[in-house]
Amino acid sequence: MDSIKVVGGAELNGIIPISGAKNATLPLMIASLLTDETLTLTNVPRLRDVAQLTQILSNHGVDYAVNGKRTGQDDLEGQTLNLTAREIVDTTAPYELVSKMRASFWVVGPLVARMHEARVSLPGGCAIGTRPVDFFIDGLAALGAQIEIEAGYVVVKAPGGLKGARVEFPRVSVGATHTIMMAATLAKGETEIVNAACEPEVVDLAKCLIAMGAKIEGAGTPTIRIQGVSRLHGAHHQVVSDRIETGTYAMAVAMTGGDVLLKGAQADLLQSALDVLRQTGAEITETTDGIRVRRNGNGIMPVDVSTEPFPGFPTDLQAQFMALMTRANGTSKINETIFENRFMHVQELARLGAHITIDGHTATVEGVSTLHGAPVMATDLRASVSLVIAGLAAEGETTVSRVYHLDRGFERLEDKLTRCGAQIERVSA
Ligand code: EPZ
Repeated sequence: MDSIKVVGGAELNGIIPISGAKNATLPLMIASLLTDETLTLTNVPRLRDVAQLTQILSNHGVDYAVNGKRTGQDDLEGQTLNLTAREIVDTTAPYELVSKMRASFWVVGPLVARMHEARVSLPGGCAIGTRPVDFFIDGLAALGAQIEIEAGYVVVKAPGGLKGARVEFPRVSVGATHTIMMAATLAKGETEIVNAACEPEVVDLAKCLIAMGAKIEGAGTPTIRIQGVSRLHGAHHQVVSDRIETGTYAMAVAMTGGDVLLKGAQADLLQSALDVLRQTGAEITETTDGIRVRRNGNGIMPVDVSTEPFPGFPTDLQAQFMALMTRANGTSKINETIFENRFMHVQELARLGAHITIDGHTATVEGVSTLHGAPVMATDLRASVSLVIAGLAAEGETTVSRVYHLDRGFERLEDKLTRCGAQIERVSA
């Protein structure tokens, strides 16, 4: 199993190209199930989760093709993916595939919308929390589907097709919003989603669905209205840039000091995180090319944050921000409100010398002047990258094992950081 070796102490200086968003790419790929024509996605990141989802989709009958490199294309530019679900040959998403990636559960929406039936394995829990699927089930039932749970599978039937309805979520859920929005595109009549997620990835999916012929209004606000249509067609869509990758590298620069242009990054996708970083002492400017992050000389100021649905501070940046706060000049409090168990990085950061205590959903981080390199490992994607950030500032060598978590969501992390002067390499076991 590969690991990442980091020798801390170097500033980051240069340009980091920001990839297409993983969390937009996954629902966009799933949207290909809604039409028998080809959906072409550009700016697709090269990630393990993307590869995993192509396997799941191909099991339903989706053909996929990745365009090769084109003249003048940089190695780090996104790829073009063509997905064609001419015929859905299987409406079952089996446990062996769904259990590897929770987002694959979202196929339930398009499958039942187009085929009027689906049998999708329950995704089960995961490292960051129990993550139930009750909002999906209640939402599909509101659209007229009959639902039963049989031997670990959600079996959904809508013999005459789905019917538009009002679907109100008890709390904001990104995945349930994606799923019900996709399902409603082919339902009869109007669907209103109330307390919808406003995340940029929901907006990106809505844009793509509209390009495919869907009638959707209000994506990006808490109320989304969808007028069902009888069929969708193929489209071209460019995946929005990854706000979590952007925030992660911005925090890395705030940690090490230096001056980096995050090329292709969009500030409006992560304004709350950028505001917090400014309060820590980082200088952040929006340029025509992306976002420039600088920090020189001065120490890191402690700032309290609470994770919130968009436009608040994202839970997917909580671990990285905690790594930054371990070196702050004082004490900060970090409150996790989205997932009940998203503090696994705390024990590992402590191995590097961080002082963190947890009380319920709140971590208190007492900044230390020095972190010391050590072998560490993490059990999820964002926790893993937080250890890399800490390692970049630690004295000596840090080895982060179980790198497959990083490969799920960060495209060529070590290449991007090496180009900016970090001492970081992948070690193959
Ligand atoms: C998406 O997960 C993201 N995943 C997560 O990113 C992200 O952390 C999360 O949204 C929150 O922003 C993808 O986009 C692929 P939710 P999702 O449904 O949709 C509860 C990463 O690191 N809930 O918005 O699964 C749930 O337990 C990943 O890239 C129910 O109770 O998250 C959680 O507490 C990790 N019942 C809250 O809602 C339901 O039926 C929000 O979860 C559904 C959700």
